[in-house]
Amino acid sequence: MHTQVGIIGCGPAGLLAAHLLHRAGIHSVILESRSRAEVEETIRAGMLEQWVVDLLNRLGLGERMMREAQFHEGITLQWDDQRLHLPLTELTNGKRVTIYAQHEVLKDLIAARLADGGEILFNVADTALHGIESQAPSISFRRDKLGDPETLHCDYILGADGFHGPSRQAIPNRVEYEKVYPFGWLGILCHAPLSHHELIYANNPRGFALLTTRTPAIQRMYIQVDATDRIANWSDDRIWAELQARLAHPDWTLHQGEIFQKSIIPLRSFVCGTMQHGRLFLAGDSAHIVPPTGAKGLNLAAADVVVLCRALEAKYKHNSGEALARYSETVLRRVWKGERFSWYMTTMLHNNDHESSFERQVHVAELDYVRTSRAAATALAENYVGLDFDA
Ligand code: PHB
Repeated sequence: MHTQVGIIGCGPAGLLAAHLLHRAGIHSVILESRSRAEVEETIRAGMLEQWVVDLLNRLGLGERMMREAQFHEGITLQWDDQRLHLPLTELTNGKRVTIYAQHEVLKDLIAARLADGGEILFNVADTALHGIESQAPSISFRRDKLGDPETLHCDYILGADGFHGPSRQAIPNRVEYEKVYPFGWLGILCHAPLSHHELIYANNPRGFALLTTRTPAIQRMYIQVDATDRIANWSDDRIWAELQARLAHPDWTLHQGEIFQKSIIPLRSFVCGTMQHGRLFLAGDSAHIVPPTGAKGLNLAAADVVVLCRALEAKYKHNSGEALARYSETVLRRVWKGERFSWYMTTMLHNNDHESSFERQVHVAELDYVRTSRAAATALAENYVGLDFDA
């Protein structure tokens, strides 16, 4: 088999890249270790920056999103018995955020890619990269887990296979940066009506809580838990008691309902400072992880592939390899701003037993600064809705 760009991973980065390359007349094949159902059912965050929504619409991929998503013009921060409404749209010249679950985006992108005749091989096993320093890299794999070994020959490889995939490991002498937080998030999905017209991020002495939504009838909520905690320790009653305590506010009711999904995820910040090597380019979670506070993961992945696909187009159409050579350097500038913002939101809003009482007071001061300064509120808002492209 031969293709121009061999894509490992059928997540947001790999799929969006396949669409962008297709529009540029560049052929690609996606290899994915999970089944289509698994990909389409994996629960992740659900917040899209304005430019991502605009891009999906420009590519003709936004129809269901525009019908089913919820559009928010602000967020609420809660601490010390007060709520602060942050008017994102007013602070950012009209930008808003879109609440639409990541797996719904994936369903739309997969369906459209297959309708375009795009090739996605699900359930592949033993994926391995070869010859990334040569002019003719390749990916070996087995179809349907047990098939005979096959080889996908390509001009370039896009490693979009997540944090645990083989692509990053193929880069020798890479530089990596990591921060592990001593807490995780317990997330639930439940059948309940909306309790508030926008997301609430609560910094509470009992720990962080986040109220978010999926549809008018399905709500998503998170609470900070210990990193080593297990979901078996959390009955539905215990979860509701914690959510009620952490989100409580006078004259306001948190509506409860049947919990139909619950799990605990760890929080981590990670950056691979070497996002390309030879003919291999990393994008999305294979190169960088953010803690979910601020929901930047998908948005950073999308930014990576926009830059990469533009660079590949310049190479194929005009034989100009300059942008491709500078890919890692270019996207890392945006990646680090996303990392900084996600770390800032996380540290400001969570309880961290490893921090001193001094640092706790600083977090309260940061929140109070956002309350009292339009400049501080604007800085938070412009990061939240998505920074402009500088490349
Ligand atoms: C979500 O809807 O899952 C979500 C939204 C905002 C966040 C994190 C997660 O900051």
